[in-house]
Amino acid sequence: LLSFRAAQYACTLLGYTLQKNGASADFLARIKQLEAHMSLGRKLFRLGNSADALESAKRAIHLSDVVLRFCITVSNLNRAMYFACDNILWAGKSGLIPHMDQEKWSQRSFRYYLFALILNLSRDAYEIRLLMEREACGKRPKGSETRHALREDGSLQQLLLMLKVKLHLLVHVLRSNPPLLVDVVKNACDLFIPLDKLGLHKTNPGFVGLCGLTSSVLSILTIVHPWLKLKP
Ligand SMILES: *[C@@H]1O[C@H](CO)[C@@H](O)[C@H](O)[C@H]1NC(C)=O
Repeated sequence: LLSFRAAQYACTLLGYTLQKNGASADFLARIKQLEAHMSLGRKLFRLGNSADALESAKRAIHLSDVVLRFCITVSNLNRAMYFACDNILWAGKSGLIPHMDQEKWSQRSFRYYLFALILNLSRDAYEIRLLMEREACGKRPKGSETRHALREDGSLQQLLLMLKVKLHLLVHVLRSNPPLLVDVVKNACDLFIPLDKLGLHKTNPGFVGLCGLTSSVLSILTIVHPWLKLKP
């Protein structure tokens, strides 16, 4: 299923690159067709995903951390809606539901996808903040030193120093938590896809293809190496 997704976005990227370099229209059309086949193939396997997302939402309700509970539950509910819309859209495209407004259902599905991604990124931001706070507390002596130095400098320098400390902390936290880093990069890459499809932030097909491909490769990586998957 994931390799279908990787292949689909590779086709998008390839088609865009070839178009830029002036490949023949016939060849381009064939690549477009291949891309559409991949997308349809992916959707065929997708029928069970809504149920799966609902199951995940039900599990997340029991998390003790309020923020994590909210983000993960609502994200999974949005994901379930996204898959549901996507299946309806697929039924429309395959002719099972005649006279369907495909554009409307496509927009709807991408909107749910976007909400799910925003919630996932909020969750990442929350976890990063927690870890940064924990890290800062663990290094009290150094922290009080900095604070002492801060009082003597001008306000701009103070701000820059604080930013530097924060940035340092952020890099440290991400480097010591590969699963969190992978999740952030994956969600950030995915974000450009609905933003482009909904017309909120237009990029080019080459960029969308690259983002989709990166995100798929990262997903495959978390399946090959399960310790890279962010829990819960
Ligand atoms: C968001 O996070 C959930 C739970 O961690 C995950 O299952 C899902 O694949 C992520 N992405 C989207 C688009 O919902």
